[in-house]
Amino acid sequence: MPTGVIERYRDRLPVGPRTPVVSLGEGGTPLLAAPRLSELHGVEVWLKWEGANPTGSFKDRGMTVAVSKALEEGVQALVCASTGNTAASAAAYGARAGLPALVLQPAGAVALGKVAQALALGARVLEVRGSFDQALAAARELARRGTHALVNSLNPYRLERQKTAAFEIMEALGGAPDVLALPYGGGGNTAAYAAGFAEAGAGAGTPRIVAAEAARRADTVASAIRIAEPVHREQVEAVLARGGELVALPDEAILAAWRALAQDEGLFCEPASAAGVAALSSVQLEPGMRVVCVVTGHGLKDPETARRLAPSVVAVDPDPDAIAAVA
Ligand code: F0G
Repeated sequence: MPTGVIERYRDRLPVGPRTPVVSLGEGGTPLLAAPRLSELHGVEVWLKWEGANPTGSFKDRGMTVAVSKALEEGVQALVCASTGNTAASAAAYGARAGLPALVLQPAGAVALGKVAQALALGARVLEVRGSFDQALAAARELARRGTHALVNSLNPYRLERQKTAAFEIMEALGGAPDVLALPYGGGGNTAAYAAGFAEAGAGAGTPRIVAAEAARRADTVASAIRIAEPVHREQVEAVLARGGELVALPDEAILAAWRALAQDEGLFCEPASAAGVAALSSVQLEPGMRVVCVVTGHGLKDPETARRLAPSVVAVDPDPDAIAAVA
């Protein structure tokens, strides 16, 4: 069994025989039926569970390609600006490749699990006094100076990446779904899915892509997509013009979907990852349609939000009667 997206889709990715493959066995994630969400919306809902990737988010699909190419090109160090998941992924693949990773994160805006992950994996983590957009501008400038390779989605190899998730969905369903709904932060993933479906031979405008953004981009609870200025906005607009839809979600809708995924379907994701599911309530769906929601990252990425929104834990003595009384 080939492990990792490069081995599985080598002929469709920009790698050659001399490219050193840096992989942690990413991709090949489950496409799960969601019976309760299906019943609720009157359509066939499937969940592409990207939290099952090695570092817990879809970023690994692109990072394996970006870091393999960086190594091939003789790059000395990696840099990224990140709301956390790109950082964790760059740290992991950098460690695997023997390349130092420099992470620029917006001050106070990255979920705890992601910071811990990047640090544990040996990245140099700097907190930039500013927004994600400002951190990204700084990372781009460092890359321009030639000291670091940028592994944000502006890295062309990374956009070759998440395409592989579209291939997997088409293989699993035996064709394209009618609708694909996913969170829209910077927009790289939306653009990559559209390119992936087109490349895999889905018809024009198929699937209909629903890009779900936070209504309050700059201060949403969904910290992974807390991005005021999406860097791939034009590409996303082009995708939407071919028959997609933009949905702007209040935080309450994102959190309601996040809770439903966990408590009705058993899938614990981080809040941003539930945006695609949240958007289903805002779009027109025909009965029986096949709908895939991309669930982008693991719930353990953001334990603080999960804990803050949960009821408090009751303390009891180790006494079965006392336990039965409060259970
Ligand atoms: N979901 C999660 C869990 C993310 O981490 C991100 C982006 C997105 C969705 C949005 O994807 O930007 O391609 O539209 N996270 C980036 C990061 C910004 O730095 O980890 P997008």
